[in-house]
Amino acid sequence: MRQTQGQIITVGVTGASGALLAQKALALLDDDARVARVHLVVTETGQRLFAEELGLTSGDLRQLPSRILGRATNKIEVLPNKDVGASIASGSYEVDSMLVIPCSMGTLAAIANGTSDDLIARAADVMLKEGRKLVLCIRDTPFNRVHLENMLRAQQAGAVIMPVIPAFYDQPKTIDDAVTQYTCRVLAQIGLPQEKMYRWTGRSSSKEAKA
Ligand SMILES: Cc1cc2nc3c(=O)[nH]c(=O)nc-3n(C[C@H](O)[C@H](O)[C@H](O)COP(=O)(O)O)c2cc1C
Repeated sequence: MRQTQGQIITVGVTGASGALLAQKALALLDDDARVARVHLVVTETGQRLFAEELGLTSGDLRQLPSRILGRATNKIEVLPNKDVGASIASGSYEVDSMLVIPCSMGTLAAIANGTSDDLIARAADVMLKEGRKLVLCIRDTPFNRVHLENMLRAQQAGAVIMPVIPAFYDQPKTIDDAVTQYTCRVLAQIGLPQEKMYRWTGRSSSKEAKA
């Protein structure tokens, strides 16, 4: 029987544009009482994107979660992407769900083709083989045929393909509105619906469900 009360989530962050999305997902998971533990894995290019897009650098990777959140956290643990022997690399370790946010075309290819040559790709491979939830927040534009074929392969293997495409029917006023609503939809996919999530009610000007 599992010792931990609450969900265990893996968050992979890769070198696709959208470090803000990773920051928002981590903040919501850190605040969420239903979540006990978050294992965070950031690729080398993912670290570069935190620097390029958010001005966040951290020589010591263990400090990265508090740099990302702007506050201390005990819930989020960083695992090195080179460590393919980490807990989450085994199906015997019970991770409930995994997000790759944002997910590069390179990491999509690794997951779709089962290469398992870094921890994010291996952990994702484990989620698929164990029949657990894996959400890939892919981002690039436009897509070439290889990207599209890899999306189909990953989806057929059980992944949810969740492209970084904002909605406009909730009338976002700021980038943060769009990032929040997209991220809430991602968390709803792993059974963590958020109060802030806008829900369409069928009435065109309704914003009553928005916090
Ligand atoms: C500033 C910057 C933005 C990038 N944006 C994207 C992107 O949106 N989508 C993508 O697939 N790759 C993007 N790339 C390229 C990936 O980072 C590159 O293919 C990398 O090898 C991906 O490796 P990773 O999946 O291990 O992070 C970007 C690279 C840089 C430096």
